[in-house]
Amino acid sequence: MAISPTTQALAYLLSAVLFILALKGLTHPASARRGNLLGMLGMVIALGATLMGREVTHYGLIVSGIAAGAVIGAVVAARIQMTALPQLVAALHSFVGMAAVLVGIGTFLNHRAAGGLNGVLMGEIAAGVIIGAITFSGSVVAFAKLQGLVSGRPVRFKGQHVLNALIALTAVALGVHFGLTGSLVSLALMTALAFVLGFTLIIPIGGADMPVIISMLNSYSGWAAAATGFTLGNDLLIIVGALVGFSGAILSYIMCVAMNRSIFNVVFGGFGDSGGASAMSQAMAKGVKSAAVEDAVYWMEDANRVIIVPGYGMAVAQAQHAVKELMELLEARGVEVRFAIHPVAGRMPGHMNVLLAEADIPYDHVFEMDEINPEFPSTDVALVVGANDVTNPAAKEDPGSPIYGMPILEVGKARQVFVVKRSMRPGYSGVENLLYYQDNCSLVFGDAKEVIEGMVNALKAGH
Ligand code: TAP
Repeated sequence: MAISPTTQALAYLLSAVLFILALKGLTHPASARRGNLLGMLGMVIALGATLMGREVTHYGLIVSGIAAGAVIGAVVAARIQMTALPQLVAALHSFVGMAAVLVGIGTFLNHRAAGGLNGVLMGEIAAGVIIGAITFSGSVVAFAKLQGLVSGRPVRFKGQHVLNALIALTAVALGVHFGLTGSLVSLALMTALAFVLGFTLIIPIGGADMPVIISMLNSYSGWAAAATGFTLGNDLLIIVGALVGFSGAILSYIMCVAMNRSIFNVVFGGFGDSGGASAMSQAMAKGVKSAAVEDAVYWMEDANRVIIVPGYGMAVAQAQHAVKELMELLEARGVEVRFAIHPVAGRMPGHMNVLLAEADIPYDHVFEMDEINPEFPSTDVALVVGANDVTNPAAKEDPGSPIYGMPILEVGKARQVFVVKRSMRPGYSGVENLLYYQDNCSLVFGDAKEVIEGMVNALKAGH
C-alpha cells in the first residue's frame, strides 16, 4: 500500500519533532529513557513512511537487509561491554559514511542513465561522497585504535599537515571537475582521495583523544547524511543529518572546553609532559600520606556530608555497585551522600552518569561540577574513587601545567579528602596531581572495587 507524498511529508515532520524531543530528553539522566523511546518511535515512523512511499516498488532486498541488520544489531547490543561503546559508535559511524558514498555514486549512475543530471545535484553528490568517505575511513581507524587492532599511539611524521591539506584541496578540485563535467574518473579519484584523507587525518591522533574525535566523526556522519538527504530529495534525512551534525559538533566543543583544549590542539597536537611545573615540585617535596581503609571509614561515618567523586578508575575497577552499597550504609547512619560529576570524568561523555545509573544510584544524588563546587567547603569528606585529572588543583594554581585553565572539581576544599587509586601513576593527561600533597589529603592505595568493598565490610562490621 503506497501513501501519498503529502502523507509521507507529514509523517516525516512528526518524526523530526520526535527526534528533537528525543535530543531534549537525552539532556538529563532522568528523562534519557523517555528520550530514547521517543527517538525510536520517530525512527519507526520514518522507516514506515519511507517504505510505504511510492518510490519503493519491491521489498525483498529491503526486508532481508532490515532482518539481517536487526539480528546483528540486537546481538551486538546485548553483548557489548560499556567500556567498548566508543569503538562500537565508531564502527556505526563508518556505516553512515559508507552509505553516503554508495548512495551518492548510485544516484549519479542512476541519473546519468536516466538523463536527469544537473549542476546542483552533482555538487550535492560530490559533497556527500567526500564527507562520507572521510567519515568512513576515519571511523575505521578510530575503531581499530580503540579496539587495540593497531597501536593507539599518535603516528606523526614531518609534513603531515601539508600532505593533508594537499589531499583535501585535490579532492575538492576533482569534485568541482566532476560537478562540471560528470567525469566518472574524477568521481573515482575524488572518492579514493577522500578515503585516504580520513585515514591520514585520524592516524596521527592518540587513542586517548579518540572520544573527542569520535564525537567529531559523529558530526561528519551527520553532514554526510544531510548531503545524502539533498541528493535523494529527502527532507527528513536533511533534518536528521543537521541534528546529528550540530549535536556532534557541540559535544566535541563541550569536551574540548572541559579539557581546556581547542579542537585544533586535539587534532594537531596532544598533551605534553608537565614541563617545569614549579608549584608541583615544591608540593611534591613534601611527599604524600597514605591511609588505611579503616581511617577513611572512621572519618566518613562521623561525617555530616560526604561527596563521592567518581573517575576513570571506578570504571576500570567496575566499582559502581560497591560505591552504591557504601552510599546506602552511610545514609543509614544519617550521613548525607552526594556524587560530583566532572563533564570529562572517565573516557566518554556521560561515562560516570551511565555507571552510577547502572548501579541504581538515584539521580537526585548526582550533581554536575558547577552545582557541587560551592558545596565542597562545607563538606566533611570528599572520597575520590579513581578520579585524578578532574581534581587536580594545578589546573587552577600552576600556570606552567598543561592542564592549567581546565575547570576542576574543587575537592581539596573539603575538610578531609581520601583518594582511592592503585599507585602514584598520573591520569590521562600524564600530569602529577597537586591535590595528593595537600595536608588534608590521604591516599588509600588499591583497586577501587576492593577498597570500596573493604569500606563496606568495615561499616557492616560496625567498625
Ligand atoms: P584520570 O585522570 O585518567 O585518572 C584515572 C585514575 O584512576 C588514575 O589516577 C588511576 O591511577 C586510577 N585508576 C585506574 N584504574 C584503577 C583501579 N582499578 N582502581 C583504582 N584506581 C584506578 O581520570 P579522570 O579523573 O576521570 O579524568 C578523565 C581524563 O580523561 C581527563 O584528563 C579528561 O580530559 C580525559 N578525557 C575524557 C574524555 C571524556 S569525554 N570523559 C574524553 C577524552 C579524554 P592508578 O593507575 O594509580 O590506579
